[in-house]
Amino acid sequence: MADKYRSIRGMADILPGEAKLWQRVEAAARRVFELYGFREIRVPLLEPTELFARSIGETTDIVEKEMYTFSVGTSGPYTLRPEATAGVVRSYIQHRLHLDPAARKLYTLGPMFRHERPQKGRYRQFHQVNAEMFGYPGPRADGELIVMLMSLLGELEVPDARLHLNTLGCPECRPDFKEELARFLKARAKELCKDCRRRAKSNPLRVFDCKKETCQAILKGAPTVLDMMCPGCRDHFEGVKSILEKAGIGYRLDPYLVRGLDYYTRTAFEVKTDMLGAQDALGGGGRYDLLVKELGGPSTPAVGFALGVERLILLLKKAVKEEAPGLSVYLALLGDDAWDAGFELARGLRREGIDCEVPLDARSLKSQLRYADKLGARYVFILGEEELSRGAGTLKEMATGLQEDVRVEDLVDFIKKRL
Ligand code: HAM
Repeated sequence: MADKYRSIRGMADILPGEAKLWQRVEAAARRVFELYGFREIRVPLLEPTELFARSIGETTDIVEKEMYTFSVGTSGPYTLRPEATAGVVRSYIQHRLHLDPAARKLYTLGPMFRHERPQKGRYRQFHQVNAEMFGYPGPRADGELIVMLMSLLGELEVPDARLHLNTLGCPECRPDFKEELARFLKARAKELCKDCRRRAKSNPLRVFDCKKETCQAILKGAPTVLDMMCPGCRDHFEGVKSILEKAGIGYRLDPYLVRGLDYYTRTAFEVKTDMLGAQDALGGGGRYDLLVKELGGPSTPAVGFALGVERLILLLKKAVKEEAPGLSVYLALLGDDAWDAGFELARGLRREGIDCEVPLDARSLKSQLRYADKLGARYVFILGEEELSRGAGTLKEMATGLQEDVRVEDLVDFIKKRL
């Protein structure tokens, strides 16, 4: 039978069997970020379209063809956020967070929306964990941020993650580099695809986003910022590298790493894996020293990154066995009086932080035991009218099948000692 309604293409349900892994990733991100002094910020999913166009860049793939944009009546146009940085910066400016010393390191988790062609590891609704730092111009901030990113991946025991590092220059050296690149591309225009010929004129750095092998081959010989950076960018980059080296974090210099968003200056990085096929970027980020001012705020240097949660989960699933569902105690109850007593017992167990379930529909003992087994219960406490009259039920340990009598009033303490 065909389902009448299905989720929208590229937008997946996260089912209960998978949710534990999601919770693990999110909890680890919160824990690690807070260890570094980051505080949570939550911003709307919907922002004025203009905010994304201005920050991500008019001639990026995201803004040119991937945004979910709409108007309602005379309001709008609005866009479902394709990434979190623009909204966080908007909020930082709007609430004058530069005046709050406790708001210099911010993190946020949640869904993003990009109308890309769905495939493994690429979705139209996906989730990111983001970290952003404001007001730190020097390389120590980039260094600490990357160390934090790699320690989160370590904590999650991500089996394969490689750090790629580049610098994209600053207003001092980038124009020369752009000019040099444009010259290089112009000389090879005939060999480039139609899109790249257009990009070569409008925004030459964006040719590096092209996936076509013919263009990629040509770009192998392109000039890089590494060859042309100004002394300020060189010092900054050396500073970042030295922190990573001291922290024992390996990286690959990747002079053709440009990132798909226009707001970056200086440091740019990505974490890649060989285990996910074409969608190999687990996360990425970099410095964006001009964006706060560009969006109307005080001139404020910034650096941040985002990790794609779906890709992390895909990778973790390869490494860890799916966790079976689990429950500490199932109360198998027969008859109304036993149910009332069991319901009270369950409240007592939960007050002690012990997870348990009671039957919410009438079932035979046999089917209750079968159900408890499916839930992965460690203990089942059987209480019927006869047991109730003698004030003690039967506690069964499911793994061993061992049974013993336990008095009703002793059950909570008894289980507490056993778990
Ligand atoms: P981004 O590289 O566009 O950067 O995205 C970061 C990560 O989000 C990617 O490496 C990938 O893991 C995941 N991702 C992106 N698109 C998809 C998709 N369609 N399906 C599944 N996962 C996806 C940013 O978004 C920047 N805001 C990062 C940043 C923060 N830079 C500075 N601060």
